[in-house]
Amino acid sequence: MPDTVKLEVFRYRPEGEGEPLYETFEVPYRDEWMVLDALNQIKDHQDGTLSYRWACRMGVCGSCGMTVNGEPVLTCATYLEPFLPGPIRVEPLHGFPVIRDLVGDLEDFVGKLQRVKPWIIREEERSPSEGEYLQTPEEMDAYKRYSMCINCMLCYAACPIYELEPGFIGPAAIALAQRYNLDSRDEGARERHEVLAEHEGVWSCTFVGECSIVCPKDVDPAGAIQRYKVDATLDFFRSLVTPGRSP
Ligand code: FES
Repeated sequence: MPDTVKLEVFRYRPEGEGEPLYETFEVPYRDEWMVLDALNQIKDHQDGTLSYRWACRMGVCGSCGMTVNGEPVLTCATYLEPFLPGPIRVEPLHGFPVIRDLVGDLEDFVGKLQRVKPWIIREEERSPSEGEYLQTPEEMDAYKRYSMCINCMLCYAACPIYELEPGFIGPAAIALAQRYNLDSRDEGARERHEVLAEHEGVWSCTFVGECSIVCPKDVDPAGAIQRYKVDATLDFFRSLVTPGRSP
């Protein structure tokens, strides 16, 4: 194994040179190091101005997503070893405007997430004195997979449609909408339908499937989207034969 490995790191400092460039750093190589450890070595010992996000270092917070040798990954969960002998190219997640160095602007996603109302909606709230909303293990299983999303944005970075159609509501937002639609305590599917059923909702998706391949939590957003397409189509035909029922 080598003693060191080189990283080609994307740099963008709007107040400095203005144009993006790649800067090469050489860091010690350790078998147990992740890409994030190498970035932290650079920040702590070589260039404190290097900017990137991370928080938990254990694949939970979803903030350390970057593009490593062309693939969107969580850098805290990606070993250096498979990329030897290097150099290893580290870039921000594709598809998002870059604020600085490896930090992308995720405002677009935050707005889209709010549009699908990822919270439990009730037509009538139960008072605390009436007790909690009970749920069986089987009812929880119906949505649990989609609840594992950590908003890491790897699925958006991998999605060719999001790059071509920036209005596309996108994989994670749709998976999280399904997380609530399939929750037995929720009554908000009709409200979310207005967003999900428009062209820039599920119908923009051409089922490339990359979103599910790169998802570090096995959420399967591509499956969530296709499932919603089937449900929405069935709902539409039911509305044709059931007077008074809206799709
Ligand atoms: Fe939290 Fe990587 S630092 S997921």
